[in-house]
Amino acid sequence: MWIRPRGLWDSSPVIVNVGQDSRQNPHRIQAAVNSPRGSDTAHYGVAKGHNPRMGFAYSDLRPYLDSLVPPRHPELVEMERYAAETNFPILGPASCHFCYLLARLAGARRVFELGSGYGYSTAWFARAVDENGGGLVHHVVWDEDLSDRARGHLGRLGYPPHGSGARTEIAYTVAEALGALRSTEETFDLIFNDIDKEAYPDTVETVHSRLRPGGLFITDNVVWSGKVIDPIQNDSSTEAIRRFTTMMSTDDRWVSSVVPIRDGLLVAQRR
Ligand SMILES: C[S@@+](CC[C@H](N)C(=O)[O-])C[C@H]1O[C@@H](n2cnc3c(N)ncnc32)[C@H](O)[C@@H]1O
Repeated sequence: MWIRPRGLWDSSPVIVNVGQDSRQNPHRIQAAVNSPRGSDTAHYGVAKGHNPRMGFAYSDLRPYLDSLVPPRHPELVEMERYAAETNFPILGPASCHFCYLLARLAGARRVFELGSGYGYSTAWFARAVDENGGGLVHHVVWDEDLSDRARGHLGRLGYPPHGSGARTEIAYTVAEALGALRSTEETFDLIFNDIDKEAYPDTVETVHSRLRPGGLFITDNVVWSGKVIDPIQNDSSTEAIRRFTTMMSTDDRWVSSVVPIRDGLLVAQRR
């Protein structure tokens, strides 16, 4: 299903049943890919010998985009090395650098992470918070060993635990993340979502209630390795991501866009 707006800024859209159709009919997707607009790319600097109509492998962009991120603190490099060695799904340099940019633009000083891992994305948010004047980043994961590991990394990066009196601190919670967000009374400038994908649709109302107006809600994995546009993929995670993305894109309380960096970030601002 997709939405055709009535007018330029008209908030009462007409709903057209096309997306559903596309899932059932892969030829519609192929038709869009092959449309004459594809030839627009010929106007931009394309490497000699490369036929832009053939497209390119999306995954080939990743090392290129990562290579554009400025050199990192040795502790972050170690965290990247560990992720590569253990196949742990961190966001990686390009996505995190983009989140860091967004957090800076939002002037974020109160950040809540849903599903934090061992603190790689937390470190980037903490850096933005610190550069915005200091504040608090909530690291929330249900694995105690990951929480402990994060304490070590983030401490060595100069971000001590909450209560230390430092300018920028990390609050650690070992719990189910959405429940932890529900049980806080605070409101946040930015909430970042990287939990189990089946729970994505459940995040919308809680996050809305805990985000200040104008605050940012960023969600990872909305491209899901391309499964979201593959009509034969109907597993529960893929369906939940599709449902979440449709909810966020059609809800007037949010301004949202999908940014196809790495595995796709959905960036939304609460109106
Ligand atoms: C993809 S990893 C996070 C990576 C992190 N954002 C980074 O880039 O460094 C997600 C982590 O959240 C945990 N997790 C998933 N769903 C969760 C939930 N509902 N509550 C708490 N932790 C969760 C997983 O076990 C995993 O450790």
